[in-house]
Amino acid sequence: MSNIVIKQLGETPYSYRDVVGLIHAAFQERREEGLLFSCLSITEDEFRAKVGDDGVVFVAFDLEDGRLLGTSVTHQRKDKKGVLYGYNELLAVHPDARRCGIASSMLKTRLDYHRQAGSEYVLSDTASGATSSIRYHLKNGFKIIGLRSFPQTNYFSYLFRIQLIKETFGQRLYANDFFCRGVYLLSALRTRFVRRADGRYTRLAGLFIKRKG
Ligand SMILES: CC(C)(COP(=O)(O)OP(=O)(O)OC[C@H]1O[C@@H](n2cnc3c(N)ncnc32)[C@H](O)[C@@H]1OP(=O)(O)O)[C@@H](O)C(=O)NCCC(=O)NCCS
Repeated sequence: MSNIVIKQLGETPYSYRDVVGLIHAAFQERREEGLLFSCLSITEDEFRAKVGDDGVVFVAFDLEDGRLLGTSVTHQRKDKKGVLYGYNELLAVHPDARRCGIASSMLKTRLDYHRQAGSEYVLSDTASGATSSIRYHLKNGFKIIGLRSFPQTNYFSYLFRIQLIKETFGQRLYANDFFCRGVYLLSALRTRFVRRADGRYTRLAGLFIKRKG
């Protein structure tokens, strides 16, 4: 790990194409698990569009041999209450460089970035069957607060949250396991009632919507 450096993509010689190649290699693990992540086939243009004008791409590389070993993207957004928060996505570590702490170091960099930018909390999501990713989140202090269903996948996703500012009672609640479990449970019930894993409505929700319409 001593040779590993983390920087914003623009400060390095790596291109979007290099980053997309790394993402494809890293997400093979998910294909083998039968989880159809859209990242498996993401193109350079799609990646660029996802990053957009306000996204920040971080990369981790070996200073000695120049190998690109990790990447992650983060955005700052505003929630319904106007509170600033961070959203982390497209985290990938090369299969040859796993369990060396690269993902955790990149997370530290992104959390520092969000602290400085004034984000109150940071969100992230991953498939409910993606064991290594779930463990990485939990080990690094994220709490599971929701269940989501995204179109064109074949899995439900956990929504993770890590609270950066803990000044008010409401903010401190999100650092509490018991509270987060309750929030998760309500979200999971709602999602399971309304959505299938691939984002379509369940039959039950479909009937309800038809009757209302
Ligand atoms: C998930 C992923 C990013 C982890 O990267 P990493 O650099 O190996 O993670 P770290 O070394 O920082 O690991 C931190 C902790 O996560 C957990 N963890 C990571 N990989 C694990 C695995 N294969 N099995 C069990 N726990 C694992 C461990 O608790 C680990 O701490 P430890 O090694 O001290 O026990 C990497 O496996 C990956 O790129 N996977 C495919 C793409 C992906 O799933 N991205 C995330 C989608 S949101």
